[in-house]
Amino acid sequence: MKEKVLAQLKHNTDGYVSGEALSELLGVSRTAVWKHIKELKNEGYGIESSSKKGYRLQTVPDALHACEIRSGLATEVLGRKVLCFDSIDSTNNHAKKVALEGCEDGTVVIAEVQTAGRGRMGRTWASAGKKGIWMSVVLRPTLPPEEIQVITLAAAVAVVRTIRRVTGISAGIKWPNDIILDGRKVCGILTEMSADMEQVSFIVLGMGMNVNHTEEDFPEELRHLATSLAACSGGTYDRCELVRVLLEELEPLYKSVNRGAAEEIIQAWREYSVTLGRQIKASVRNMEYTGTAADITKDGRLVVDCTDGQRREFISGEVMIRGILGYS
Ligand code: BTN
Repeated sequence: MKEKVLAQLKHNTDGYVSGEALSELLGVSRTAVWKHIKELKNEGYGIESSSKKGYRLQTVPDALHACEIRSGLATEVLGRKVLCFDSIDSTNNHAKKVALEGCEDGTVVIAEVQTAGRGRMGRTWASAGKKGIWMSVVLRPTLPPEEIQVITLAAAVAVVRTIRRVTGISAGIKWPNDIILDGRKVCGILTEMSADMEQVSFIVLGMGMNVNHTEEDFPEELRHLATSLAACSGGTYDRCELVRVLLEELEPLYKSVNRGAAEEIIQAWREYSVTLGRQIKASVRNMEYTGTAADITKDGRLVVDCTDGQRREFISGEVMIRGILGYS
């Protein structure tokens, strides 16, 4: 109900909405309306109250609140449930917990700060306060375990489209799932799954996007590797809007995955790739290979024409691309 009150206030930012109109529109008492307004104010919304005219929304806080994320969210499955935390160890850890407890498909876990944010390959993920988007989505796809890589690719495509839609900036994808701007990483994706031999039980899709960081907000050792949307463009961005758009971009891709149309995702991934056609160095199970990234297979393997004349396919591992993330 609080979300509905907020949505009404947002529709009327140039005027007041009376408590009576809100109570009639939403079918609740005026006392209930007043209670929701009070809660919104406590969450940092600037709401002017006038005994004669009613309520007017003046400012929206720069905070990740469920009702702000959900207000105007145009999805059917993703984000029906949004769990927000000021601080948590890792949104992936919490998402796993709620998934095991049976949460619904598309549940989102999001936090302002992660105290133990995790990256790929057992690395830590720097999750500075109130600057980025640290979120995990629980998905329950109808997929065999060997096909889940396509979900990660879909997420990378959704992130690129989100950045384009909200900021106008064109980002690229470094295989398998790093989002790159100006040769540095702006977003990383960590996919974890629970499955038996035949069927995936759930996937936790963790995404970390650097949004309003200045260069100084990154630890010194990361400054040549990491960037943010703000550092690239000079603007600052509404993180709730980014989350909404991300869920809206991800949902149709998730539906494609579920109806077995992975080729659409692979095609989009190719379009945004900064990997294909480039000179790369791949580290896979303590071996190093150099060569040219030739293609990606329908299940997300990177095809590399190696300098020893062999064509190889990699399902996981670390890839360095000449000219990106400090590899020259
Ligand atoms: C990478 O190494 O590139 C993946 C980084 C993934 C970070 C995100 S932030 C939200 C979610 N929770 C985590 O602990 N990790 C992921």
